[in-house]
Amino acid sequence: MSANRGEFSSRFGFIMAAAGSAVGLGNIWGFPTQTASNGGAAFVLAYLVLAFCLAYPAFMAELVIGRYGRANAVASLKKMSNKKWQHQFAFIIGFGGILCAALILSFYGIIAGWMMSYTLEPITTLIGINEASKWLTSQSTVPSLIFTTLFMGLTIYIIRSGVENGIEKWSKRLMPMLILLLICLIIYVMTLEGASEGLNAYLNPDFSKLIEPQLLISALGQAFFSLSLGTSVMIIYGSYISKKENLVTLGAQVTLIDVSIAFLAGLLVIPAMYVAQAQGLQIFSAEGNLISGPDLVFTILPSLFNGMGFIGSFVALAFFALMSIAALTSSISMLEAPVSYVVERFNLPRNKATLITSLLILSISILIILNMDSLFGFVVTLATEYGQPIIGMFCCIFIGWIWHRSKIIEELKQGYEELEQGLFWKIWPWYIKFICPLCISFVFLNSVL
Ligand code: PFF
Repeated sequence: MSANRGEFSSRFGFIMAAAGSAVGLGNIWGFPTQTASNGGAAFVLAYLVLAFCLAYPAFMAELVIGRYGRANAVASLKKMSNKKWQHQFAFIIGFGGILCAALILSFYGIIAGWMMSYTLEPITTLIGINEASKWLTSQSTVPSLIFTTLFMGLTIYIIRSGVENGIEKWSKRLMPMLILLLICLIIYVMTLEGASEGLNAYLNPDFSKLIEPQLLISALGQAFFSLSLGTSVMIIYGSYISKKENLVTLGAQVTLIDVSIAFLAGLLVIPAMYVAQAQGLQIFSAEGNLISGPDLVFTILPSLFNGMGFIGSFVALAFFALMSIAALTSSISMLEAPVSYVVERFNLPRNKATLITSLLILSISILIILNMDSLFGFVVTLATEYGQPIIGMFCCIFIGWIWHRSKIIEELKQGYEELEQGLFWKIWPWYIKFICPLCISFVFLNSVL
């Protein structure tokens, strides 16, 4: 099975693909708005610490499982099991993660569809077709259905070509574009009136908020979502990494890119809000918090771009193209998790497996669009607040308690001969066994109780 299942052709290819999965709407939209509503730089600080101290070790656990198993998430976990109950546990975690990825894709695809329609809107405005502009930004049922399907079509197009010619090739093209767009937009926004006040709000910490449990819960949730944990995605990406590569540094590099892009997105979005304020737009809610969520991206920022006249259309186009690209590199990873399972479990050709899986996921998206008020929030909560932390924690437990310490070291040593000279191997197996599950369950229970 493993001979022709594909592998990333280069270290750069893996880093772009995994960073592509990690960097998404969570970084460019979620992180800045969470920062804005949680005490500015205090949240950034908590996020940095939790991302490196909790999310990174858990991320490593998923990469190790995948690279050892060299198969889809369920099969990789089963390969590490000896007893019957361990096989059953492996199935629950692996399949649960795959389900989680599919559910996230079902709502993520809808938001990404909106991003695509908002990318087209400035073009129709420039041409002067106002009716089309209104239709594109209405977020009503028909455009939502059309653009979600279009976005899913793009995701399918990439995934059906496999690891090297699909995921890797497109991640290597799209990620540099994303970084370039982000930097150009930051530079432009910094030249506008009000931006420095935004910078101040972003970078001046309100340390009193650091002890609020809500801040820690939000920061860990954000770090988990951002590194795509608990969804089997990093297990499957890990399974495509060559045995010659050093997992410890690869994981650290991806985490660093993910955190840096979130930080850069903050430098764009928060100053942009204060620019909007300088232009007379209301950016604070009645309770005095910065407006976040959909209102920020679909109301305040578009009004800001509109107010900039001709150049505003280009800025809007660049901003929503940035969002769409970020969403696409993440969505391909979400589709790869179930597709790789269907290919290997049912021995189906990749094309067929991609089509069947994505049609199923698209049906859930359609169901959500037709029942927006009741289903959207429910699916988001189920997958991101329950699914991801629980499955992420189980992955740590699986590695820490079911697998052997010597096997972990053996796997990590492939591509990293000097491992035993470093601190990492001494600490990490204990860390993943005790600290990660404890901290994750503490934060999880705090957030749901
Ligand atoms: N990490 C992505 C983001 O920050 O937007 C979201 C994501 C991708 C979540 C892949 C889960 C997943 F499996």
